[in-house]
Amino acid sequence: MDAQVTNAYSGEIFDLWDTYKKVVVKDFMFHAALSQEVERVLRARFQGGDFSLLDLGCGDAHVFAPILRRIPPASYKGVDLSDTALGLAAENLQSLPCPVQLAHSDILSALSDGATYDVIHSSFVLHHLATEDKAEFFRRASRALAPGGLLLLVDTMRQEDETRGDYLKHYFDWIEKDWAGLSRAEKDAIFEHISTSDYPEPLSLLEQQARAAGLKRLPGDVPHRWHHLMRFERA
Ligand SMILES: C[S@@+](CC[C@H](N)C(=O)[O-])C[C@H]1O[C@@H](n2cnc3c(N)ncnc32)[C@H](O)[C@@H]1O
Repeated sequence: MDAQVTNAYSGEIFDLWDTYKKVVVKDFMFHAALSQEVERVLRARFQGGDFSLLDLGCGDAHVFAPILRRIPPASYKGVDLSDTALGLAAENLQSLPCPVQLAHSDILSALSDGATYDVIHSSFVLHHLATEDKAEFFRRASRALAPGGLLLLVDTMRQEDETRGDYLKHYFDWIEKDWAGLSRAEKDAIFEHISTSDYPEPLSLLEQQARAAGLKRLPGDVPHRWHHLMRFERA
């Protein structure tokens, strides 16, 4: 990671992988609807495949892999800070009919090697970065987009009138009430992770940072509570 960049999160959060997998399979964070929309956007822009793809914070690629089998990119590069996640991603992506590269890397460093991509995708990762690092993310993503390229950003965002404290309270109340089928210990581990690692911003701030980095937001976000898909291209 670049020396001048500090992240709110670093390292292996995901001793939590088993719990996170449950959250994804039970669709508490709306992965199904959001990834369906990602697939629709990819089809609309790259009907015949043939796009290079960088997946930042790819995790285990459990949700993205089936989409990529249906609309295969020309190349896939996934980066993550968790070796556990990268091991699982290697298994989940092994049947993709394209070169697959997986690297242990911070997302900001992965955007700084001079390579460009037709699609930069990042799902539920950006909220781990400190506010100024999010601005740096947009600057680097803007430079790493090939002409005609797309930045697809799925993430949690707090409401415009919510402080981080409000957000944590509201999100935890919702988990407590609606995330059925998780044990007390699993919910407590999720609370601990979110309290220490999640720094979601209001959508307007992310849009402003993206605009300052030369990115234009495309319309069409359908929010699912605090969970959004934002799409950007170079202005
Ligand atoms: C909530 S999981 C999301 C995984 C997957 N993208 C998804 O949508 O299900 C967040 C992932 O981001 C990774 N991560 C967090 N901060 C990161 C950073 N600064 N650079 C690279 N990966 C990071 C974590 O290790 C974890 O695998």
